[in-house]
Amino acid sequence: MAKVLLEKVTKVFDGGVVAVDDLSVEVEDKEFMVIVGPSGCGKTTILRMIAGLENPTAGTIAIGGRVVNDVPPRDRDVAMVFQNYALYPHMTVYQNMAFSLKVRKTPRGEIKAAVEETAKMLGIEGLLGRKPKALSGGQRQRVALGRAIVRNPKVFLFDEPLSNLDAKLRVTTRGELKALHQRLRTTCIYVTHDQTEAMTLGDRICVMDRGLVQQIAPPMEVYDRPINRFVAGFLGAPPMNFLEGGIEMRDGKAYFVAGGSCILLPDDTVGRVRPYNGGAVVLGVRPENVSLEPLAGRKENVLGGKVRVVEPLGDRTDVILETEGGLGLTISVDPHAAIKAGDAVQVHIDTGKVHIFEPGEVGGNVSLG
Ligand SMILES: Nc1ncnc2c1ncn2[C@@H]1O[C@H](COP(=O)(O)OP(=O)(O)OP(=O)(O)O)[C@@H](O)[C@H]1O
Ligand SMILES: [Mg+2]
Repeated sequence: MAKVLLEKVTKVFDGGVVAVDDLSVEVEDKEFMVIVGPSGCGKTTILRMIAGLENPTAGTIAIGGRVVNDVPPRDRDVAMVFQNYALYPHMTVYQNMAFSLKVRKTPRGEIKAAVEETAKMLGIEGLLGRKPKALSGGQRQRVALGRAIVRNPKVFLFDEPLSNLDAKLRVTTRGELKALHQRLRTTCIYVTHDQTEAMTLGDRICVMDRGLVQQIAPPMEVYDRPINRFVAGFLGAPPMNFLEGGIEMRDGKAYFVAGGSCILLPDDTVGRVRPYNGGAVVLGVRPENVSLEPLAGRKENVLGGKVRVVEPLGDRTDVILETEGGLGLTISVDPHAAIKAGDAVQVHIDTGKVHIFEPGEVGGNVSLG
């Protein structure tokens, strides 16, 4: 078990691609850290540097208090689980799982005990004599996991280990992984571009964009208090709505105005949005914070609009509408709400839950206290 420390780590590939840019992150002993971000943001490169398969261009990497920049991969005591399992096709499941211990010259009896115990833990004890090609994707992923577990490493590195599984298996395996971590308590660094995996698995989430860390925090903090528009838009399905408009101050009150609509912002944000008076900002509101039926007589923060698309999902229904001012807005409503495309509706925005961002794709969240 060990802490993993990356300090000012940068990776520039030949040709000048900056895959990772000045990354500093401290993964605590026993922590489950999820690194999440869109394709190409540098996730795999980070894991490969920790594993020693790639050298950082600058910065230091320490595992368990020891700087490992010059330590070869086999001596780093980390185990990596890949998206494509990377099992040896000519070996049986048993041989695949035993391989690393055999290389380390572990006594045969110990190997047998470790492989059998791990196989039992993962429910694959009946498959030990099979070759990988005779396994389903889910079974192969378990073997890949088992092969990592028998090594009893200080750190597990997971590179999108569930992405080749079908939707249902992905959900069950995700739950098993979490249970496994609760049992083994080994430090885990888990890379994914799937925001649900990030939210459900991580003790903390590190959100990346184009090689740069955007925010590192526990899942609900990232969700409730996104540091900028990129983070806000990355977590949440359907994603947060972003309305472009401006701030207007009147009689000591702050309003967000856009497309003929006017939204009164809560008193506690007045001071924070005052510097943007007369300027452009972006209002962010999650679909679940817009409700379909404004209370009778309520006029404030009510927008009129027309329903464009209705998407029933069973547990909720997503509705895409266009406000009278021409703003696009997705809201999540009760699945039994009587609503159909073409309906004229009024919606109410819960302004206690809105965020105000500076303009631009990574505009900072100015409404955070
Ligand atoms: N060996 C390499 N040589 C040159 N550029 C590379 C190399 N490996 C990765 N890159 C580039 O570095 C950037 C980060 O790649 P990386 O594989 O770390 O992304 P990722 O976040 O894992 O993406 P994905 O979600 O698609 O797996 C990309 O722009 C990629 O093209
Ligand atoms: Mg990758």
